[in-house]
Amino acid sequence: MEDKLKIGFFASGGGSNVEAILKNINMGEVPAEAKFIISNNSQAGVAEKAEKYGVPFHHISSKTHPEPEALAFEMIDLIEAYDVELIVLAGYIKKLPDEVIEHMKGKVINIHPSLLPKFGGQGMYGMNVHRAVVEAGETMTGCTVHQVSDEYDEGRILGRCRTMIEPGDSAETVAQKVLRCEHELYSIVIGQIAKGQLKIA
Ligand code: GRF
Repeated sequence: MEDKLKIGFFASGGGSNVEAILKNINMGEVPAEAKFIISNNSQAGVAEKAEKYGVPFHHISSKTHPEPEALAFEMIDLIEAYDVELIVLAGYIKKLPDEVIEHMKGKVINIHPSLLPKFGGQGMYGMNVHRAVVEAGETMTGCTVHQVSDEYDEGRILGRCRTMIEPGDSAETVAQKVLRCEHELYSIVIGQIAKGQLKIA
């Protein structure tokens, strides 16, 4: 039997990306196993997804761990306890502690809702990105999966998915189009890593 890649999610929001990946895992499309979902927000919609799919949920934030070092160590403890091999950031709004990135030796990936390097960097998240894209008069946008380094939205690009911007599109309609791309692309990239087709070490 094929070995399954043990993944751990970090998410802060509704968790539609997490859900899309969990569905693809359950359908046998991605040879991976979801070990945990960590969130900085105990009330985030992703907590319900964790329950729905039976994935252990852990709330870790400055409320639970006021000391940044203790917070990083708690994350590393969980990563070790669950033997996680790949960290998947899916709408995680906090910066992952450098200690965690170092511990994972590059095996941390993120999805960004633009065609990086365009519309990336600090402050570029959520609707800010889509508004900037529409204001710039772009005719195409999309999403990017990249390896996480210690700089915002930098690191090696692992995959991109494009979508057209039509006349009359607003930041809101662009956001919907991009989210559909995200739901397809993230599972594809994780599947490639899980099958050893894409090396990220
Ligand atoms: C997505 O737009 C993703 O690109 C960004 O945060 C959003 C997460 O949405 N990083 P969801 O929580 O997966 O629904």
